[in-house]
Amino acid sequence: MKNVLVIGSTGQIGSELTMKLRKIYNGDIVAGYIPGAEPKGELAESGPSMVVDITNAQQIAEAVDRYHIDTIYNLAALLSAVAESKPQLAWHIGIDGLLNVLEVAREKKCAVFTPSSIGSFGPNAPKDGTPQDTIQQPRTMYGVTKVTGELLSNYYALKYGVDTRSVRFPGLISYVTPPGGGTTDYAVDIYYSAVKGELFKCPIAAGTLMDMMYMPDALRAAIEIMEAPERKLRHRNSFNIASMSFDPEVIYHKIKQYVPDFEMVYEVDPLRQSIADSWPNKLDDTCARMEWGWRPQYDLDAMTRDMLDKLRKKLL
Ligand code: SER
Repeated sequence: MKNVLVIGSTGQIGSELTMKLRKIYNGDIVAGYIPGAEPKGELAESGPSMVVDITNAQQIAEAVDRYHIDTIYNLAALLSAVAESKPQLAWHIGIDGLLNVLEVAREKKCAVFTPSSIGSFGPNAPKDGTPQDTIQQPRTMYGVTKVTGELLSNYYALKYGVDTRSVRFPGLISYVTPPGGGTTDYAVDIYYSAVKGELFKCPIAAGTLMDMMYMPDALRAAIEIMEAPERKLRHRNSFNIASMSFDPEVIYHKIKQYVPDFEMVYEVDPLRQSIADSWPNKLDDTCARMEWGWRPQYDLDAMTRDMLDKLRKKLL
């Protein structure tokens, strides 16, 4: 029996993670949401939901009490590009909000998962094979909140024994809920253009490598890290995980194998490009593999076939 609160349950990750948790656990999987982002359809009908604004500690505590929550998935965040336009709000949600979650977790003895990101590094980290433990000096507010979140989560584990764990997600690709305002979003948008038969205007320049991952692998990582035997973990917040790294040319040509008349032009967005340029090309995920058995299942080809298939069913 597991009772889980998902904060940010209607977002890019939350909408799919909540459904997956409901399929595998018997307990209450509570979809926490903010007004204006209510759960709909299957997400609304398949389990409990309630308003849980991460900036409101009282609401988090009430949800934990009402449903006897033992694990909190904290998925509330602004993605990287939008965080640059609202840096104070990004901090308020990412760090003031996390502190609320950690305090409730300390008092009520919950485990906490808070995703970090490839954005938690910065231009001074090694770009290729970025190690688990290395210099993290991000220059974006998104990255600043992510690295601070890692440190704060580790602090609560050390100081108070709160079971905090997490992974550094790559850009996540899914046909379900679109991301909003991320630097890696182009790798989702490109599939929509291909399926709709539209010209794709790529905001990221050729040659810009970034780690990416298909959502089913990301969901599995979020669940497996929380299920891993604690004694095996040398790290907590956060584990590098990786499955594929590509630039716009590589994904474009991969899609073109299946959609031969698909066309792409470059219209580089200077903000997103400068963010991407400060991020790693490819993470080294050896520690996740060794400490809790992380293994991705999708490569670019398998992901592309599935994305095109599912998006055709959704859009056509
Ligand atoms: N997908 C995120 C972003 O682009 C990175 O973790 O903001």
